[in-house]
Amino acid sequence: MKGIILAGGKGTRLRPLTHTGAKQAIPVANKPIICYVIEDLVAAGIREIGIIVGYTSERIQSLKDTIGDEKKYGAKITYIEQDAPKGIAHAVYCAKDFIGGEPFVVYLGDNMLENGIKSFVQEFSCSKADASILLTPVENPSMYGVAYLDGKGNISKVEEKPANPSSNKAIIGVYLFTKAIFQVIPNLKPSKRGELEITDAIEGLLKQGSRVIPHVVEGWWDDTGTPEAILSVNKKVLEGKMKAEMKGTVEKGAVLSGKVGIGEGTEIDADTKITGPAIIGKNCRIKNSHIGPNVSIGDDCILQNAKISSSLILEGAKITYNAAISDSIIGKNTQILSDGKKAARIIIGENSTIIL
Ligand code: G1P
Repeated sequence: MKGIILAGGKGTRLRPLTHTGAKQAIPVANKPIICYVIEDLVAAGIREIGIIVGYTSERIQSLKDTIGDEKKYGAKITYIEQDAPKGIAHAVYCAKDFIGGEPFVVYLGDNMLENGIKSFVQEFSCSKADASILLTPVENPSMYGVAYLDGKGNISKVEEKPANPSSNKAIIGVYLFTKAIFQVIPNLKPSKRGELEITDAIEGLLKQGSRVIPHVVEGWWDDTGTPEAILSVNKKVLEGKMKAEMKGTVEKGAVLSGKVGIGEGTEIDADTKITGPAIIGKNCRIKNSHIGPNVSIGDDCILQNAKISSSLILEGAKITYNAAISDSIIGKNTQILSDGKKAARIIIGENSTIIL
């Protein structure tokens, strides 16, 4: 089987982080989201991966730099350009030649699943189905593609973001297909949001009598399209699969509790308290600060007198602001400094949010 990862998209809900970089390049527990996706495909036995990219050359380059050398994943990676933002089904169609006649997985590059996809891939390879979709119950199904199941657990219908769905089963952004999907996509009409919807393509398969199998997944799933979702996934990964390696230098007197990972070359001074789960990257300097819980700090950060909880601090940031910072995402090389004066002085880029 082959895999394709969809990594176009403008990531508007994550501006300003997505003005220059792709949303799939944002790190969760210090690892870019797209790297979890690639690793999940490889763990499921997939060795040929196509990544669909689109839009600004800056975003595409940021994604390629983030992914780096394909050898480290043990898979062959091919980049495929989507000529226009015409929806998920359109992006899948762009990969038609890459896929050839093989069955394949489509993985939306901002989706993360606690337990991975290996068992679904294995089952699909042995089945005679033309598609397999993963479902999870949600409180707000009208935000997603929704599947309706009949009394026997078979799918009777799927619909994209219905206004008042009678089913709470959201369709997760990981799909397994045979080449049958390529016959359906050319017949699709753009949806209300002007896109060719993959949910409509699956409905097309159902209507022509193709077999589509559903799975309700166990464990958490998230679509990391918003700052809240990224922070929530960060917490779950820190609590769960994050490996806590202790490589830096911690001065005597520092108080570390819970699961804490510290990267090579990082120095933690005696007046710092770190409450896990938390991860701190390489070559950081942390002085007189209180970090955690649920904090990820990238490489080369400087923190002095900082109080940070439930946040993501990306590489190269400098924080000497001494009031509490919580539920925040601080972009690369950003500085939040204290100069002892009462009035705040702010120099900030477009589409940023500051809640003081
Ligand atoms: C897309 C799909 C939707 C699916 C969701 C999962 O939505 O259209 O059916 O439930 O991904 O992440 P979008 O993120 O494009 O709004």
